[in-house]
Amino acid sequence: MSLNPITRRRFLTAASGLLAGLPFASHLRVYSPANRLARGKYSITAIASRNGLEAIQLAYKLISDGKDPLDAVIAGVTLVEDDPEDDSVGYGGLPNEDGVVELDAAVMHGPSHKAGAVAALRNIRNPSKVARLVMETTDHVLLVGKGALRFARAHGFKEQDLLTDKARKAWLKWKQSLSPRDDWLTPPEEDQQTGAASLLDRHTGTIHCASINSSGDISCATTTSGLSYKIPGRVGDSPIIGAGLYVDNDVGSCGSTGRGEANLQNLCSFHAVELMRGGMSPKDAGLEVLRRVASHTREERLLDDRGRPDFGLKFYLLGKDGSYAGVSMWAPARFAVADRKGARLEDCACLYDRDN
Ligand code: GLY
Repeated sequence: MSLNPITRRRFLTAASGLLAGLPFASHLRVYSPANRLARGKYSITAIASRNGLEAIQLAYKLISDGKDPLDAVIAGVTLVEDDPEDDSVGYGGLPNEDGVVELDAAVMHGPSHKAGAVAALRNIRNPSKVARLVMETTDHVLLVGKGALRFARAHGFKEQDLLTDKARKAWLKWKQSLSPRDDWLTPPEEDQQTGAASLLDRHTGTIHCASINSSGDISCATTTSGLSYKIPGRVGDSPIIGAGLYVDNDVGSCGSTGRGEANLQNLCSFHAVELMRGGMSPKDAGLEVLRRVASHTREERLLDDRGRPDFGLKFYLLGKDGSYAGVSMWAPARFAVADRKGARLEDCACLYDRDN
């Protein structure tokens, strides 16, 4: 697997940080009889949302070196949380309507069937690491807001302003363009260059990353700055176990990106894994949960002129046997996968196409 020089530097930095003493999940490893019988049978695979190509390269390398899949996926998503250019996750994420970055994240460890999550966390750039500590050091699953921040501080996380100049300018344009009837004047050059509609565009970018090791142990993480310009305190699907991610170590995993509200109303990741338990392939299970979301979407404001959900939602599914799929409400869409053939982007299976 070849890496460009920047990727390689970040990759090595992240790998050495991990080796230098970040906690490993090995003490959580629980070998069920099924796993004991199966050790060594499985092919190492990592999947992620499209923005996770570097993340899966790192995750794949770490698992190949014998690290626990949870260590690997958290190291992978940390690359994206730290990246100021990714405006949907961690440092550089787009803020809420007040201009404050609020982050959500969850992790799930297949062998122990334990999970941890944080929501509406401010000032801490790596919410996935805090989520992991919720899982490993408390009797809880989800901490939110000020409590999550106090917990992170207690574990030595440093606070910082997560709003980059780029994200602040995007937020300011959104605010200035919201309404012609408020006191914020729309910058005229913005109207000319991009059109007022695109200034109002909001997104729900996120990274999900999942992996399986040669023993068949699966773990995953989902981390996000959530819906851009959201109402302060809004929590999406990402930190909700069964929605933003879910693992059953005997079956597989599923995680999401896209419109969190649609996923929250349907608990899609749990549903998808249950469909896989019933024998469906990752692709068929993913498409089936998208069909369920579509059939449950009834508000006119959320439908296009043909009655189809007018929003994006994607799932990334990994089967116990290393089978995998990315599925999307709308084409075109891609996802990232790494296995013995290398790391690459592949096309998602899509429910709808605007051209058809
Ligand atoms: N799927 C990310 C969110 O809705 O917050």
